[in-house]
Parts: sequence; C-alpha cells; structure tokens
Amino acid sequence: MNTDQHTLLTGIKPTGTPHVGNFLGAIKPAIEMVHEYEHSFLFIADYHALNTVQDGTRLHDLTLSIAATWLACGLDPSKTILYRQSAVPEVFELETIINAITPKGWMNKAHAYKAALDINAAEGRDRDEGVSMGLYTYPILMAADILLYSANVIPVGKDQQQHVEIARDIAQRFNHTFKTDVLTLPESFIKEELESVPGVDGRKMSKSYDNIIPLFATTEEWKKVINRIPTDSSSVEEPKDLSNCIIFDIFKSLAPAEQTDALRVRLEAGGIGWGEVKAQLLEVLEAEFGQLRARYDELMADPTEIERILDEGAKKAHIVARQKLDEVRSAIGA
Ligand code: TRP
Repeated sequence: MNTDQHTLLTGIKPTGTPHVGNFLGAIKPAIEMVHEYEHSFLFIADYHALNTVQDGTRLHDLTLSIAATWLACGLDPSKTILYRQSAVPEVFELETIINAITPKGWMNKAHAYKAALDINAAEGRDRDEGVSMGLYTYPILMAADILLYSANVIPVGKDQQQHVEIARDIAQRFNHTFKTDVLTLPESFIKEELESVPGVDGRKMSKSYDNIIPLFATTEEWKKVINRIPTDSSSVEEPKDLSNCIIFDIFKSLAPAEQTDALRVRLEAGGIGWGEVKAQLLEVLEAEFGQLRARYDELMADPTEIERILDEGAKKAHIVARQKLDEVRSAIGA
C-alpha cells in the first residue's frame, strides 16, 4: 500500500432496495477494503438522493435501510465512520466555497446532466426540462463530500469515476488559486467487475431494469422473484443447453464453485428439471444471505440502535470536517 493513501471514503445514495448484485459488486469488496486503510468513512448520501426521493418518510426509511444493510453485511462502526451526509452540515459550506472556483463548463460535461439533456432533445422537450439545480451541481456536492475528509481513495462504480475526477480537478484548482495544499487530491478506485451478476431477465442486475434479486427478502418474495427467471421448455430428461441459460448464470454468480460444478454436471447429463434448479437457487440464497438477513431484520426492528450508530459516526466525522473547514476558511480569508 502506498503510505500516502491513508483514507478511504465512499457514499451510498439511498434510493432503492439493496440487491445481491450490490452486495457482491460493492458492499462486500468495500467492507474487505477498509482494513487496508488507516481511516475509513462511509456515509449515506441523503442530500444526493433528495434529487429523486422527494418524500420524507421514504427518504428516512431508505436511509435506515442502507445503514442496516451495511451493518448487517459486516461493516464495523468502531473502525469505519458511518454517518448521514446531512448530519455534518460543514459539507454544504464547503460546497458553497468550491462553487466559487468551479467552472460552470465542468458541470455541463458531467454525464448525468448530459444524459438528461440528451433525453430531452430526443423527446423534443425543452433542454432543461426536469433538470434541477441539485442534478446540475451534483458533482460539486460530491466533491465536497470527498474533500472535507481529505479522502484519497474513493471506491466507486465506473459510472462515478468522472465525478471523482471532477473532485480532483476542483481540489487542484482550489489549491492553485489560494496557493495552499489544504485540499487532498482524491483518486477513484474502480473494482474491475470480475463478472457482474445477471438479473432475472439476463441483463446486468440493476434497479433501472427492474430485474433485481433483493438482498433481504422473505423466502416467499425470493420464490416469486426466482419464478420470474425464464427457462426453456426442455423436459426433465433432456440434457440442458447452458450456453445461454439465465438461471444457471445467476446460480453460478451466487453459489460456491463446487455446488455450481455439481449442478452443471447434472444439467448437462439431463434428468433434472427447472423446478429443481429453482429450488436449489432458493437454497443458495438462504445459505448465502439468510444470516445477514436475520441481522438486518433485527436492526430494522429497532432503528434506535441504527440511529445511535449514525449519530456517533456523525460526531466523529464532524471533528474531522470542522478542522478541514476551518483550514479552508482561513485559506480563503473568511
Ligand atoms: N454519487 C454516488 C452514487 O450515486 C454517491 C456518492 C455521493 C459518493 N457522494 C459520494 C460516492 C462521495 C463516493 C464519494 O453512487
């Protein structure tokens, strides 16, 4: 490890139900990574979510649910500072400060904003229809999230890489403008997707495709989701073609290798029907995620414990944030 890389930070936008693809692609690797860093911060980006979740009860519930998910999956709040973005208001002051040195043109190039304009153009609507200032300045708030904690390693999905680059550019420009080195230059850490988890329709598992397997569903809900996976009409006896087999691909991404190999042998030989494969997939979900689900349910049953952990995290985060903001204010002459 490079000793300059001491602080890991990432944010999660509370906008939907965590699914098994999130767990394998983001949650599990991030929880394993935090041990390599002296400091780690993980926060729930509730003010980023506010751009799309505009219902107080829902935002509150989603925030608790994300916190409970990470805790249930093994995040240790005594090692990683876990907090709500909105509980450390210094971030909004830093955002206002960096607004002053961030060229508007950088926002015009940000991909989420550009995508919204492209859709409007394609549909023949006014170019800025449905574009809030929150969406437009999204990368600046995200830069403030990162720079406030001097974070230098930011694990994110590929779609967020550009935002981390913008944060780096903002830090550089700030330091140059005010002849200081108060802001640390962050770098994204993109985990090469070994193999993304397919959703129930065979495309990459994603909330926007409505094809997810939720991480913490009841057995009945899991059953229903599994039943949505299409299978061919071959009979029980026939050997199965695994070259384009969604249910087998999902199984393979979730089950231990030996179990996948055993299933492959049986499917290729014939003599096993899709009903049994579905039942096996349900068993895999129970085996892999059943215990995490029990812990999640326990946490959600009494959110005061989650709130306590988030408050404690916010207190620790606040100390770091306050100091950085004081240094920034002093650099700008405030
Ligand atoms: N924009 C990120 C996402 O949608 C969430 C996020 C907000 C974030 N602030 C951050 C991630 C700071 C990393 C660092 O996934």
